[in-house]
Amino acid sequence: FDGAKGIKELAESGLLTSIPPTHAFPPDPTASNLSSSSIEEQLPTIDFSFLQAKEAVVRSKAIRDLGEAGAEWGFFRLVNHGVPESLMKGMLDLAKDFFDLPAEERKKYTGKQVLDPIRYGTSFNILVEEVFCWRDFLKVIVHPSFHSPEIPAAFREIAAEYSKRVQQIARELFKGISESLGLQSCYIEKAFKLEEGLQILICNYYPRCPQPELAMGLTPHSDHGGLTVLMQDEVGGLQLKHKGNWVLVRPLPNTFVVNVGDHLEILSNGIYKSVEHRAVVNDATARISIALAHGPSLDASVSPATQLAENGGQAVAYREMPYREYLEFQQSHRLGGKSCLNLVRL
Ligand code: SIN
Ligand code: FE2
Repeated sequence: FDGAKGIKELAESGLLTSIPPTHAFPPDPTASNLSSSSIEEQLPTIDFSFLQAKEAVVRSKAIRDLGEAGAEWGFFRLVNHGVPESLMKGMLDLAKDFFDLPAEERKKYTGKQVLDPIRYGTSFNILVEEVFCWRDFLKVIVHPSFHSPEIPAAFREIAAEYSKRVQQIARELFKGISESLGLQSCYIEKAFKLEEGLQILICNYYPRCPQPELAMGLTPHSDHGGLTVLMQDEVGGLQLKHKGNWVLVRPLPNTFVVNVGDHLEILSNGIYKSVEHRAVVNDATARISIALAHGPSLDASVSPATQLAENGGQAVAYREMPYREYLEFQQSHRLGGKSCLNLVRL
């Protein structure tokens, strides 16, 4: 398997009738623990327009809902977010165009360091993995400084607009989340130093797979940052862990899936949950998803809010670690559930 070429090229070459041994995971004992769709229907939906409502009762209800979603699921759907459908579709199309580029073009971005501003690759980290994920990715740092591949030509403009719009949404959510925790609305903004906050655009391509039951699009993990805003195409494959079972989060039109990352769990002293999730693949259709990860500034060290820990009568549950160090650790090891968060758990 030539990692530099990615799995898309191999999977779409027409040569594969079975999964290559490099990508075959041992049969998954939790595969049958998939929840019924009635559980999925309980996944909370937050109406973004309610969070911005002038009427105090409407806004405070939305903030309470946000708090419940973060504590019980670590995930929610976000509707009425105001990002134009055309921009969302444009971003998905450009991600597809990038993965369709000739290998020589994609290879220019094969990063060496986890913090390289533009990084194309396959699986998660093939330097340390024994079995590879059925996924190619493009990770682009879009804040505090904006980067973009040069080709496709329209990528720069669309990615800049898309990430700016979504960042504004994330900031509003951080305000609402701060309030839901009984903190000042700018608490997270300050603790995360969001003016310099790290925002990463992650484009995922999961090719069709001849033996999806032996493959993993992305193995179980939690996200390192604060909030991830995910847009998925109509195919579906995201699963989250809820009460020990995997729940498929079916894609809905014009809807983002937002999840809590490790640093929000840390800041909230465990009230908001950074929940494990994974991506599965199928043998019918390739899938694209685009995540925008919103984390603290690389120079910030986040610790549990004093009002929630000591003053709230709770033991401090996590120790402080510079975000840069946390991120480098997470990205240079194998994906392993919540193993990174466990490093700082007290
Ligand atoms: C991710 O966890 O970053 C992406 C999951 C997905 O593709 O739905
Ligand atoms: Fe993730």
